[in-house]
Amino acid sequence: MNRRYRKTIIAGNWKMNKTATEAKKFADDFKALLPKTKWCDVVVCVPSVDISAAVRAFKDSRVAVGAQNLFYEDHGAYTGEVSAAMLCDLGVKYVIVGHSERRAMFGETDAIVNKKVHAALNAGLNPIICVGESLDQREMGVTMELIALQVKSALAGVAAENIRRCVIAYEPIWAIGTGKTATGEQAAEVCGFIRATIRAMYGARIARSVTIQYGGSMNPANAAELLGHEDIDGGLIGGASLDAGKFMDIVNAANQG
Ligand code: 13P
Repeated sequence: MNRRYRKTIIAGNWKMNKTATEAKKFADDFKALLPKTKWCDVVVCVPSVDISAAVRAFKDSRVAVGAQNLFYEDHGAYTGEVSAAMLCDLGVKYVIVGHSERRAMFGETDAIVNKKVHAALNAGLNPIICVGESLDQREMGVTMELIALQVKSALAGVAAENIRRCVIAYEPIWAIGTGKTATGEQAAEVCGFIRATIRAMYGARIARSVTIQYGGSMNPANAAELLGHEDIDGGLIGGASLDAGKFMDIVNAANQG
């Protein structure tokens, strides 16, 4: 983390978990644990049908509600899809774009991710853009090339003044939901490389203002070590964000630093 230049953001990604009723219960439990002082930004990315309930439940708490996906068109015959304007209208502030599960299971390409980033920014949402390599790619030694390609294509055509609103989440696929966390050094190396890639595109001043998160089996036991690295400005947390107490322990670890 480096709080002088950029925000620390701890974000939960519930994936396809929790009903709206369960979301409200989580919000009540989580709000009861919120510290009075010292704050990193906290976001909870909920299933789209839980958004209304979550926004209502987190009102006045400084916890922002995020979505997990959007479609890039404004409106039209796209059965089952949700637009950026629809999310904004509900009070959503962040939206995850290009999660590896969407890339792998729902055919999201780098070009689609780029369109979604633009749609989010145009509507006033802050995209949390996910990048990350598979185990095969890491073992083949192509991690950095792949990350550079994903970052450059996600940000293609994004104006310099909008980069500060983008969050990049480095999520090595082999660490997601596996209990296998990247070591602090591995995560910091790639997060540092992502910042260098943004520096080459937009210059040093903008690059140092971008929040870069790590995601992949982050939990209360490893959060402090990961967040202790200069280029890791927060976490995108799956499993451990489903439990109010565990998620708060990670927020507390970010507040200690
Ligand atoms: P886990 O924390 O469950 O490994 O999930 C990480 C993730 O994919 C967050 O987007």
